[in-house]
Amino acid sequence: MVYSQQHRSISILMLPWLAHGHISPFLELAKKLTHKRNNLHFYICSTPVNLTSIKPKLSEKYSHCIEFVELHLPHDELPELPPHYHTTNGLPPHLMSTLKKAFDMSSSNFSNVLQTLKPDLLIYDFLQPWAPSLALSHNIPAVEFCTINAATIISIFANHFKNSTLKFPFPGIHLPDYEIRMFKNQVEFSSNGLKDGDRIQQCSSSSCNIILAKTSREIEAKYIDYLSDLVGKKIVPVGPLVQDPLDQKTDEESPIIQWLNKREKSSVVYVSFGSEYFLSKEEIEEIAHGLELSKVSFIWVIRFPKEDKTTKVEEVLPKGFVERMGERGMIVEGWAPQAKILQHPSVGGFVSHCGWSSVLESIKFGVPIIALPMQLDQPVNAKLVEEVGVGVEARRAEGGGLQREAIAEAIGDVVVKKIGEGVRMKALEVRDNMKKIEDEEINDVLEQLEQLVQLCA
Ligand SMILES: *[C@@H]1O[C@H](CO)[C@@H](O)[C@H](O)[C@H]1NC(C)=O
Ligand SMILES: *[C@@H]1O[C@H](CO)[C@@H](O)[C@H](O)[C@H]1NC(C)=O
Ligand SMILES: *[C@@H]1O[C@H](CO)[C@@H](O)[C@H](O)[C@H]1NC(C)=O
Repeated sequence: MVYSQQHRSISILMLPWLAHGHISPFLELAKKLTHKRNNLHFYICSTPVNLTSIKPKLSEKYSHCIEFVELHLPHDELPELPPHYHTTNGLPPHLMSTLKKAFDMSSSNFSNVLQTLKPDLLIYDFLQPWAPSLALSHNIPAVEFCTINAATIISIFANHFKNSTLKFPFPGIHLPDYEIRMFKNQVEFSSNGLKDGDRIQQCSSSSCNIILAKTSREIEAKYIDYLSDLVGKKIVPVGPLVQDPLDQKTDEESPIIQWLNKREKSSVVYVSFGSEYFLSKEEIEEIAHGLELSKVSFIWVIRFPKEDKTTKVEEVLPKGFVERMGERGMIVEGWAPQAKILQHPSVGGFVSHCGWSSVLESIKFGVPIIALPMQLDQPVNAKLVEEVGVGVEARRAEGGGLQREAIAEAIGDVVVKKIGEGVRMKALEVRDNMKKIEDEEINDVLEQLEQLVQLCA
């Protein structure tokens, strides 16, 4: 007799915040989970402007288990926010609070999505407390998925809520004053009458039993445990969720890869500040001088805001820089295949703004980090990188300005000098350990989610 246990099909609706750094890990999580079970069906809900750019990039093999659902934001009520601004990507900064307001206002349309799809579970992001409330009103369990790490959430709670009973037992991620001020401004950024810190707090307190977080116990065990106690819910790490480099289309003939092929092992630094931070002219100048002083070869990705169609890269670099660097440096305008570059044996360091996805990607490929955090959660991430031992932060001046000598020194320490041996070894060790538990972590996520769905069925 053949006994086959049919798993009933489970449908999961995902609602990430409207930013690349959020949509992308939600999608990667969906992919990872569908590799493990064939009874899962995902709906990823976002604005048309975001979906049109990710849809064509999703491989055919997911077409039966991952679907996209459009979320329409109001436009007649908010004429200053046309549909091409329904994303943080390329959004002029002064419209950020309008975007959050529009997202809040779309809750009635989101309610219709819930009503129509009747998913078994909602997985939502950290800025939309209305999403879990709506799910609850439809009797659908809702779980938060945080794409920032546990150390950052703890810092947000500690800085924002000034809860006198909450001691901050982690000197390793304590920020200097200018960074605390910056952090506070962001947490207290208010849109539609709600501070970001309150949004984050409400989202975590609405999550059903557990909270998923894009992190790994290999990097954050003590923060994960502390945060679990603090919020009274199990924080479940989902692992690094790095996009498979095979999914990135670059042919081996690309000039970047060819250039890398000609360099020596671990001799090049890759320099990038993510897709949503744009360096000022002064910052570009300091970094250029820092790279020059370091004497190390580099690939530097420079981006300008979308609305800036006139600035030329040569104009913002120091005079004669490109000529002086010659073959030693490659400057890439716009986009670069980051995962392919980090994986290349010639790359020996990543000069990074320490966006959390970039940090995890660097660790995943065993590349040590030279940290130059710029905004948001980056200063905390940079501290974490140092504490784990996989990188070094370039010191800033007292008032917070970049310093060319410090940048050069940090690059030299990490990539060239004897002193950096420990960091380089540690990057490989953490890479291996993180890989060992990746599968276990995803299995745990699955078990937790399945339990929740059964509990609420
Ligand atoms: C929307 O988000 C996707 C996925 O995160 C991103 O690749 C794309 O660049 C964004 N599209 C626009 C127009 O901002
Ligand atoms: C809901 O979606 C429709 C389009 O389907 C749009 O016209 C409307 O403005 C949206 N309403 C809100 C409040 O977001
Ligand atoms: C302060 O922190 C304690 C312990 O974590 C918690 O029980 C309490 O609810 C917090 N109070 C406020 C006002 O957040």
